[in-house]
Amino acid sequence: MDSPNAPSLSIADNSSQSVTLEGRSLILVNRRGELFLFENNCPHANESMDPLGGSLSDDSGDLIRCQRHGAEFLAHTGECVAGPCMGETLTPVAFTLAGGQIYLD
Ligand code: FES
Repeated sequence: MDSPNAPSLSIADNSSQSVTLEGRSLILVNRRGELFLFENNCPHANESMDPLGGSLSDDSGDLIRCQRHGAEFLAHTGECVAGPCMGETLTPVAFTLAGGQIYLD
């Protein structure tokens, strides 16, 4: 659980941000105050989801949208519900919150 580069939890509600933890490119998602973590790899083309930077979340926080070709994923499960990789799923990453920071399990 030791991760000296753990990001602090300053992410706004209904938003997402890229984080790098233990050399892994990840997407941290805040859906109405609940946090989820996924590999930053879209199953459509095996590319990062946020080449333009910024949040991938919609206003409700329920969906995140890949910036490359618009695939939409449920923010709490990573399941693709619209777009070119429908039915596929982002890879979830297990983590622990401690002292206001994220640590990979
Ligand atoms: S790479 Fe994500 S929708 Fe194509």
